[in-house]
Amino acid sequence: MVRIDPWSSAQYADYARLRDEFGIEPFTFHDSLPDPPPIFSRGVVFGHRGFDRVVRAQSRSDPWAVLTGLMPSGRMHLGHKMVIDQVAYYQSLGADVTLAVADLEAYATRSMSLSRCAELARDEYVANYLALGLSPENFRLYFQSRRQAVKNVGFSAARKVNWGEMRAIYGFEESVNMAHVMSPLVQVGDILHVQLPEYGGPRPTVVPVGVDQDPHLRLTRDLAAATRLFSVQDTKEGVGVFVKAEKDFRNVLALAERFVPDAKLRAKLLATPDEAERNQKLVKELFRGVRAALKEAGFADLKENLPYNAIYVPAAGRGDLPLIDEALARVESEGLGEPGFVLPAATYHRFMSGLTGEKMSSSKPETSIFLTDDAETAKKRIGNAKTGGRATAEEQRRLGAEWDKCTVAELYTYHLAPDDDDLKEKYDKCTSGERLCGPCKGIATERAQAFLKGHQEKYAAMKDEAARIVKDALTEGSA
Ligand code: TRP
Repeated sequence: MVRIDPWSSAQYADYARLRDEFGIEPFTFHDSLPDPPPIFSRGVVFGHRGFDRVVRAQSRSDPWAVLTGLMPSGRMHLGHKMVIDQVAYYQSLGADVTLAVADLEAYATRSMSLSRCAELARDEYVANYLALGLSPENFRLYFQSRRQAVKNVGFSAARKVNWGEMRAIYGFEESVNMAHVMSPLVQVGDILHVQLPEYGGPRPTVVPVGVDQDPHLRLTRDLAAATRLFSVQDTKEGVGVFVKAEKDFRNVLALAERFVPDAKLRAKLLATPDEAERNQKLVKELFRGVRAALKEAGFADLKENLPYNAIYVPAAGRGDLPLIDEALARVESEGLGEPGFVLPAATYHRFMSGLTGEKMSSSKPETSIFLTDDAETAKKRIGNAKTGGRATAEEQRRLGAEWDKCTVAELYTYHLAPDDDDLKEKYDKCTSGERLCGPCKGIATERAQAFLKGHQEKYAAMKDEAARIVKDALTEGSA
């Protein structure tokens, strides 16, 4: 059994196996969205959970959100670029984008001070993100330490998970410090809070991340489902909407003021001597709002089954489930004043190997190319990069090189081959032995240098804007 540990420095090798063992779905949406970036079709984005919802929202022109977080740790390098390529692409489709600076997590797990996080966010992350094509329009940045709603959502969602479950997910030792235990719950708050009414309300949300973050997404999705009042299911009688009543109907009773605003009527209902009868009457009242929402979503023909706390939409099938579920999340959120979270989606991308063959890391400069590196440094790093070359030139001409073992091949795949024909040309010349590693590295070097030059010009142009965005984000919560 492999374990995914978001805080370890392990390097993942077998992504298909990771995907299958953890129930991550294969990412097959290359043709479902307009003009996707090359990393979609090249298997770099290789898995997802619940992304169908996002595709549907996009095709219906319904609002959807992107949220991701960055843990400020050092200088940004090429390995960080994939996620921004995705975020910028989603933004170009019309999604609203929120970026969390995970300063509480960095503080808890890496002993990084909050002020150092703020500096890195300004000089490294945000300026580079803007230079990589993220637009300041339709984009919000915040710091975990500054946003009260994030901590509140994390705290209340935490009621639905116990220590045994946290330990099973993360493998925490007895000696773990509790700030570390809290940081995934803050991340739950990051992901879900964008669905609070003041941050845009319930809507499909995608979280593009590396696969190491999957434990956080499983936790978040479990907690999002657990905090819902309604559960929506495919049944023999069409789509069924069920009230998840707690023991003694406690949760429904607690909301009675909301869905029976008339005090007299409410008092009368609550005074019903027979408890079962009282509960049914309450559910009937609760279903008023549900009926209205379903009608608005286009489903007028409904069948109540009060003893089951259920209302059925006989004409609806599996395919209608997400829309009905989203309509009900809005009922919860608006009508009842409780957060009703739509299950967030995630996409997972592979990590680039370090140029030396070990893990790519900010703390080991030789493993990567940093976005602020100069042309000479880029040349040196690519020159030293591990390839799939053979022992001798003669052998390589005869057998071809091993593309799958080459870190320069990864550079082309992730970043330096603008279109698939170009990538194929690199692959064919490599594996046939026609082009040896030296000349191939030469082409990669030229392209990397051109990219860095263009990027650094944009970075310089965006620096003030980035400083402004970070300054604004830092004033949040201090009013
Ligand atoms: N845990 C993430 C990391 O280690 C950072 C992060 C914080 C994040 N909050 C998030 C990622 C919300 C995605 C969504 O890099």
